[in-house]
Amino acid sequence: MTVHAIRVVSEEDRFRHSADLTRRARALYPSGVTRVSVGTAPIGAYEDGISIYAQSGSGAFVEDVDGNRYLDFHNNFSTLVHGHAHPAVIQAIQGQLQRGVCFGNPTEADLDLAAALCDRIPAIERIRFLNSGTEAVMFAIKAARAITGRRKIAKFEGAFHGTYDWAEVSVRSNPENWGKGAVPHSTPPYLNTPDQVLRDVVTLPFNDLALTRAILDEHGDEIACILVDVMPCAAGMVPVLGDYLANLQELARHRDILVISDEVVCFRLGYSGSSALAGLDPDLVTLGKVIGGGLPIGAVGGKQQILSIFAPQDRAPVPQGGTFSANPLTMAAGLAALNGYSTGQVEHVNRLGDRLRQGVEEVANATGVPLIAMGAGSLFRLHLKRRRPTTYREAFASPKESEALRRLNTFVLMRGFQVAFPFWGAVSTVMSEAHIDAFVDAIRESVLAMPDLRGLQ
Ligand SMILES: Cc1ncc(COP(=O)(O)O)c(C=O)c1O
Repeated sequence: MTVHAIRVVSEEDRFRHSADLTRRARALYPSGVTRVSVGTAPIGAYEDGISIYAQSGSGAFVEDVDGNRYLDFHNNFSTLVHGHAHPAVIQAIQGQLQRGVCFGNPTEADLDLAAALCDRIPAIERIRFLNSGTEAVMFAIKAARAITGRRKIAKFEGAFHGTYDWAEVSVRSNPENWGKGAVPHSTPPYLNTPDQVLRDVVTLPFNDLALTRAILDEHGDEIACILVDVMPCAAGMVPVLGDYLANLQELARHRDILVISDEVVCFRLGYSGSSALAGLDPDLVTLGKVIGGGLPIGAVGGKQQILSIFAPQDRAPVPQGGTFSANPLTMAAGLAALNGYSTGQVEHVNRLGDRLRQGVEEVANATGVPLIAMGAGSLFRLHLKRRRPTTYREAFASPKESEALRRLNTFVLMRGFQVAFPFWGAVSTVMSEAHIDAFVDAIRESVLAMPDLRGLQ
């Protein structure tokens, strides 16, 4: 099928309007971008790249301000599980829009979304709404600290959980700073991170049970919670091995450490979320992205007793508020998105994800390019490696691999396909097998146009 609608004009013309807007942005934003994660694409020289400015989105496609159309696997970092302008979501937003966008009152809309989430996710009996995944993780950590009377948290090397200082530690670990031995150093996420933050975070190695046990033996009685994502995207979408999660839960229980399952991205893997799918029984669950239907959202949920840390209203051990938390517009959009994400739709996107990963690996086999498709269900991430990584350190991209992945990203962009940097994405329910096959074809064409890839080890 033909999906690419990159207009056949000169390179300069193709992105002319985006180039103009990027120039304007450079006078307004540091680096010319207002989200570090949505940077300029390496069209032309990377340092002088162009941000592709979106004009509109419809279904599986997004159109830029120059009229180029892309099949969108980015979906705003996997948020848009139904693609763009999904009729039910738009209708729900429009309906609420007529009645008001935010109030200093609760609305029935928040009850409806809360009930839908409590119904679906076994670990959630009570819930609170927030405005982002970052806030959800922050309040889950605060709750765990208040409940256990401990200050430290444990998290996995390379795993991203938003931008609360403690949750950010070791996100940017690299061979220069992760330590000479196998025990991961807690590395600073930003310049001059307070030492106390680093001391408060115990960094764990994903999938290494013996070492995880040893680290928890040493620090266990100081740790309030373990923050875990069953398939951490930034850590390479490395799948959990064997019974590592079950053992992790056991290790936590024995040490009275609470387990927080961060499902901001991975909720979409199963109808009841990712912990239910992975056999994990977390004390707290954090949510975001998909459950807001494309509007900003976060949520923290858990067992009734655990969530009672946010009560009573006037003197809760952990007060939790937020001007825009549970705003009815988001609640209405979220409910429509969630209702449309039926078991059938979950299976549909998961099947397409399998097809995509399989197709990419067939390209790798046929071309001899060291290309590995990681991920599960509707989420995928490509690595330019010969061996399938099982840890963050194995998944870590060398500078050469990162540069080549960026180029590959640009090649598929030029063919009319959009993914998140360096190279990951999410299938939406409005996609079909034909969309996936067209994307795999674009990857094949792209790797054939990049002969140097075969030289990567
Ligand atoms: C696993 C995970 N947790 C938390 C967050 C933070 O969510 P937000 O960007 O909504 O603050 C993200 C963001 O991508 C994430 O991937």
